[in-house]
Amino acid sequence: MSDLMDTLRLQVISCTKCNLSKSRTNAVAGKGNYNAEIMFIGEAPGRNEDLKGEPFVGAAGKILSEALEYAGLSRDDVFITNVVKCRPPNNRVPLQEERDSCHPYLSGELDIIKPKIICILGNTAYSSILGGDSITKNRGKIIKKNDQLYFLSIHPAAVIYTPTLKQVLKDDIKTLVEILGKIKKGIQVETLS
Ligand code: URA
Ligand code: SF4
Repeated sequence: MSDLMDTLRLQVISCTKCNLSKSRTNAVAGKGNYNAEIMFIGEAPGRNEDLKGEPFVGAAGKILSEALEYAGLSRDDVFITNVVKCRPPNNRVPLQEERDSCHPYLSGELDIIKPKIICILGNTAYSSILGGDSITKNRGKIIKKNDQLYFLSIHPAAVIYTPTLKQVLKDDIKTLVEILGKIKKGIQVETLS
């Protein structure tokens, strides 16, 4: 258990720093292993997450779990969170001001977990965290920024609309696990910056 994470979670669940606090049911803090080597970052809670107060528990979450299992991981091995912690109305993309208001919580999660690699899930996380703009073009790549490694992949919800992407996501997560294995052995991995 982490007292720091408990404190952070309490701040998130009572947060009213942006307008999303007005329409949410529950704010959704990150969840998983506090010693995780991999941290996944999605966009924002959806309907199921808002109702349950947990990240990735709906259809997209089921797809993410399947991809993790395919790569030999369980959800308890990793830490899963989002760019913003409250559901935007009708699942619209979170506004820049909402991302900015929420950013200290994501930073706090990162400071506590200190993942060896961060897996960016989709365009919202890609643009918010790395200023990127085409996950379709860049997925599968590794980026090093400020001494932190990132791996880029698609958002699991994309699989709902384009079922052929399921194998792409699964293969990406498998690649991510292989990359982590190399990092832990001190083997150099090729990165973009
Ligand atoms: N989509 C996200 O980006 N995050 C969730 O937690 C659920 C769906
Ligand atoms: Fe606070 Fe983030 Fe929710 Fe906005 S989205 S109210 S900043 S927890």
